[in-house]
Amino acid sequence: MVKHRESRPGQRSSAGPGRTNDRRADAGYKPGKPPAKPSRDQGPARDAGKRSERAVEQRDPVGAASAPERPLIARIGDRPPERVPVILESLGAGDFHLIDTGNGLKLEQYGPYRIVRPEGQALWQPTLPAHIWDNADAIFTGDTEEDGMGRWRFPRQVLGETWPLQLLGVDFLGRFTSFRHVGVFPEQIVHWEWMKQQIEASSRPLKVLNLFGYTGVASLVAAAAGAEVTHVDASKKAIGWGRENQALGRMEDLPIRWICEDAMKFILREERRGNTYDIILTDPPKFGRGPNGEVWHLFEHLPMMLDICRAISSPQALGLVLTAYSIRASFYSIHELMRETMRGSGGAVESGELVIREAGLDGKTSGRALSTSLFSRWVPK
Ligand SMILES: C[S@@+](CC[C@H](N)C(=O)[O-])C[C@H]1O[C@@H](n2cnc3c(N)ncnc32)[C@H](O)[C@@H]1O
Repeated sequence: MVKHRESRPGQRSSAGPGRTNDRRADAGYKPGKPPAKPSRDQGPARDAGKRSERAVEQRDPVGAASAPERPLIARIGDRPPERVPVILESLGAGDFHLIDTGNGLKLEQYGPYRIVRPEGQALWQPTLPAHIWDNADAIFTGDTEEDGMGRWRFPRQVLGETWPLQLLGVDFLGRFTSFRHVGVFPEQIVHWEWMKQQIEASSRPLKVLNLFGYTGVASLVAAAAGAEVTHVDASKKAIGWGRENQALGRMEDLPIRWICEDAMKFILREERRGNTYDIILTDPPKFGRGPNGEVWHLFEHLPMMLDICRAISSPQALGLVLTAYSIRASFYSIHELMRETMRGSGGAVESGELVIREAGLDGKTSGRALSTSLFSRWVPK
């Protein structure tokens, strides 16, 4: 069970313009082919006035030479009603909780291990005494030239590279990586819980697209709940890890397509083929690279990505969920982009922040909220 709550419009938000959230920045997308014919609009059923929608010439704000694969569609109709700010808060779930934060660090519980990692948002002082922090099982140092395990210190005993974890009923492997990540971004749990509820409540099998899906925990949660899942990530290693996770939970029979491809290329192809999805999760980095060097740059390519995501949303779509992290922006930036993208589709757009609440050593003692990322999601009601 996920311990989380939502605060709704009218409640205070800790969000503000110009702040950054600190997760991995990979690299950016560079559209490769010349412009194709304007795509048809396959948006949700309530898509009003789509015949009048027109393709608009896209100006490249950073002056890259390559032309977009298809023009951005100027959407018409009303912007969906808004719900802002929405703060989605997690107190942990399954094997994870946030124990304490402070001094630019966070102390987290991942199954049997207490782990210390850098956390730029933790400007305050830790609550727990220093000896608890010093006695963690693993501390990310990042202070060596080595890769992988070399960047971790194990004060109690040397640990293996991987260990089993469970969240929302699915098994996966934690891993000490050289990027300081451990294979899961727990702030996403609130989105995954929401997705799980949609899938379980549906009378038909839903199709879920997980873009920038990393190690596949969301894909496994969706598949375990009964969805047909398409998982896309540019990293062969991440896809391999995802498959490993699927095997660990003996979930090989569940329908997950693991696709190692540039996210933008993949969705453009899906649009050309007329394939659609009921729920789309997209969690793009600020910069990223596809497997063939395609460049993803969030500030340049997000409008087109969302536009294509709308086009490949099924007529009965249940959600388009965007998370953004490590960027200098207010949630309003992605909120208004989402509302413009979803013009004429009805529903509502709710946006705000994902935060994780400290839960102490026992996982039950509510403490301070740690901001992790911005989000915006379109929902049909
Ligand atoms: C922070 S992770 C997403 C985490 C994931 N949503 C989760 O919570 O498990 C960002 C992912 O984007 C992938 N990526 C970066 N550039 C990409 C691109 N152009 N196309 C597809 N995936 C990309 C990276 O390999 C990485 O796994």
